[in-house]
Amino acid sequence: MTVPSLYDRPDFFAAYSRLPRSLHGLDAAPEWPVLRGMLPDLRGRRIVDLGCGFGWFCRWAAAQGAARVLGLDVSERMLARAAADAADPAVEYRQCDLEALVLPEGAFDLAYSSLALHYIVDLDRLAGVIHRALAPNGRLVFSIEHPIHTAPIRPGWIEGEDGRRVWPLNSYSVEGRRVTDWLAADVAKYHRTLGTILTLLLRTGFHVSQVVEFCPTEAQIAARPEMEEERDKPTFLLVGASR
Ligand SMILES: C[S@@+](CC[C@H](N)C(=O)[O-])C[C@H]1O[C@@H](n2cnc3c(N)ncnc32)[C@H](O)[C@@H]1O
Repeated sequence: MTVPSLYDRPDFFAAYSRLPRSLHGLDAAPEWPVLRGMLPDLRGRRIVDLGCGFGWFCRWAAAQGAARVLGLDVSERMLARAAADAADPAVEYRQCDLEALVLPEGAFDLAYSSLALHYIVDLDRLAGVIHRALAPNGRLVFSIEHPIHTAPIRPGWIEGEDGRRVWPLNSYSVEGRRVTDWLAADVAKYHRTLGTILTLLLRTGFHVSQVVEFCPTEAQIAARPEMEEERDKPTFLLVGASR
């Protein structure tokens, strides 16, 4: 029996579906105005959305005049809801695990990803696939949970088997799998430092041109006071790069 993807777990999917961005789309995502400002003109562009979820961005890109938008996601439930929303002939959704992604070379002008890459184990491989799939001067624009948030699992130490204190689960510099309670129990994400993420892109051959450590604005906090605690620590890392 295959293990369902995180977003196909009924408990997690139900909680995720209640988030403002799940109910109201791009305009309910505080980082969207900044991310949108990092995008090239989409008219006539061929776009791939990696971890497209409910497909909000795919449909928006098509409405901006994109020639073709391919939305990829591993979750059946997410894709089912994406497909249930208004169809656009320029948008195609496809079920796919990004860990095993294969894309044709030079086939896209923009690779976009919003808040999916912190679930990826082999980001080196995926970066290479994306790089090869972009046409010359093609753009990569993505958001990822900021490393300052993926680093800690809980404060303090855990006891090693020999009784010694072991720190890695709460360490910024120790990278790898973190299991947290976010919307549901046992949610696995992959922590990488800011340096690792940027170096990985540069090593792959990307020219990194924009790096934004996003914190909500005062106006956004006034409108949604629950974001108050996000003022002092960047919530998301937004990156723009070109091939
Ligand atoms: C936080 S949601 C973001 C959805 C959408 N990009 C957005 O911003 O609204 C993360 C998405 O990444 C997808 N995802 C996670 N791991 C994946 C993988 N290995 N392959 C493909 N999609 C994955 C999830 O199924 C989920 O739809």
